Formats: sequence, C-alpha cells, structure tokens
Amino acid sequence: MLKICVLVSGGGTNLQAIIDRIADNTITNTEICGVISNNHDAYALERAKTHGIPARCISPKDFESRAVFHDALLEGIKEYNPDLVVLAGFLVNITPEIIRAYPNRIINIHPSLIPSFCGKGFYGLHVHEGVLARGVKVTGATVHFVDEGTDTGPIILQKPVEVLQGDTPEALQRRVMEQAEWHILPQAIDLIANGKVKVEDGKAVILN
Ligand code: GAR
Repeated sequence: MLKICVLVSGGGTNLQAIIDRIADNTITNTEICGVISNNHDAYALERAKTHGIPARCISPKDFESRAVFHDALLEGIKEYNPDLVVLAGFLVNITPEIIRAYPNRIINIHPSLIPSFCGKGFYGLHVHEGVLARGVKVTGATVHFVDEGTDTGPIILQKPVEVLQGDTPEALQRRVMEQAEWHILPQAIDLIANGKVKVEDGKAVILN
C-alpha cells in the first residue's frame, strides 16, 4: 500500500480528484495518510476533514522565519511517514532539504506542458495568463518528479488541452483542470503505487 501525503494551498480540486479516484478504485494500492496546507483558509483542508483524512495547516505566518517554517514542514511531512509526497496545487517552493529527504518520491502537478510556461513566477492563474498572452493554441498539464530546480524534474505524464478563442485565464484554468490535471495526477499516483514508474538517466520511464 502506497502511503501518500498531499500538500495543498487552495481549493483542493486535485486533492478531491485523488480522493474520488481512490474511492472508485481507479487509483489502487494507495491510501492518503495526511494532508498539509500552508494556508489556514484552504478549502482543501475541509475536503480532507469531510473524508476523515488527517489534515493540518503549517503556515509560514506561524513561524519567526522562513527557515523555521521549512523545518516544521519537513517534520510535519515525516510525521505522516509517507512513501510519496504529492504537491497538488502547493504554491510554496520546496527546499533542497525536503527534496533530499524524499528523492524521486515527491511529485507535482503543473498546469502547462513543461518546459513551456513553467519555472519562477509561473503558478496558478499566472500560467494561463502567460499562455493567453503568447497566443499558443495548445496548452495542458504535466506531472513530474520534483528535483532541486523549479519544474525541472523528470516528466511522468503530460496531457494537451486546446486553447479556445475568447478564453479567459479562469476559463482556461478550469478546462486544463477538467481535461488534464484531474486525470493525469491520479493516473501517475496509480502507476507509482503499482511499481510502473522508474527514473533512468534523469528521465521517468513508464513500465508496461
Ligand atoms: C492547479 O491548477 C495546479 O496545477 C496549480 O495550482 C492549481 C491548484 O488547484 N499548481 C501550480 O501552479 C504549481 N506550480 P487546486 O487547489 O484546485 O487543486
């Protein structure tokens, strides 16, 4: 059984997709051992509580420095003793200490086709604003392992989504979630839970 700790910051629709796909057995061999939010007001915390999943907030606002916050975050993750850490809309940069504690055991969902519209400054709605400003016709989402760069780790799954004439950032964000994120994040977790993903030469390989 793969124990996953899900880190969230906001609405938690990706967390909900994971919960639902475990419930209907699309994701197998997996249990959510805990949810951590950096934001006290995150609706994702309510979603966890509704489903009886242990959840807590570890907010930088409650610590005297960023360094102390990051130490508390690592301790908080360790307390749940996960096999895999899932960044599901977690908008805080993960420190090298956390990454080294979980090598190739942290995955992230990013709302674009990496390497486009990713890296510093590209998170949440800003990604979709960038897509519309550039006028690209296809965007999508990516699930990748987290390494010490920003959105640079081995890519596990990607799914394209069409950009439509007249899209607003909000409309595009919703379509990317519905058509890509809510599918490939659960799918990646299921693949990992069933031993179907390995990292070779810095690239993720899906085994048959
Ligand atoms: C999602 O679109 C996710 O891809 C994005 O934040 C949103 C969270 O929504 N993550 C990033 O931009 C990470 N760089 P949710 O809270 O409803 O799952």
